[in-house]
Amino acid sequence: MSADPTDASEVSTEPVSTKSHTLGPVDQIPFGEGRAFGVDGEQVAVFRLRDGTLRALSAVCPHRGGPIADGTIDRQVVMCPLHQHAFSLETGCSSTGAEPLRTYSVQEDAEQNIVLEYPHIRGNSLA
Ligand code: FES
Repeated sequence: MSADPTDASEVSTEPVSTKSHTLGPVDQIPFGEGRAFGVDGEQVAVFRLRDGTLRALSAVCPHRGGPIADGTIDRQVVMCPLHQHAFSLETGCSSTGAEPLRTYSVQEDAEQNIVLEYPHIRGNSLA
């Protein structure tokens, strides 16, 4: 029962949708630090850089499950506190050979709240 390829009326052009989650005031995260939030059963680490911008990555280190939100950051990387693997805050890629961290889109809204865009994939595990 395949669809007629010339009939695009029922074909979704959006394979992955996102849901916005408001995680509360940005002031709960001091400059230069991170905090972990539970979002749809996942742990997400949100970092507030010293320039005020936000970054969001998976909060669980792929090496041995270390708490990424407790890691130290500079402008470009976060270092896991357990064994010092380093991950890009932009891409989640590790410069020290670990598996990458998932990254998320995050921003501050007009009321100074943290707004996370969380991927919502039907029928597909995010794990
Ligand atoms: S658990 Fe993160 S570097 Fe080992």
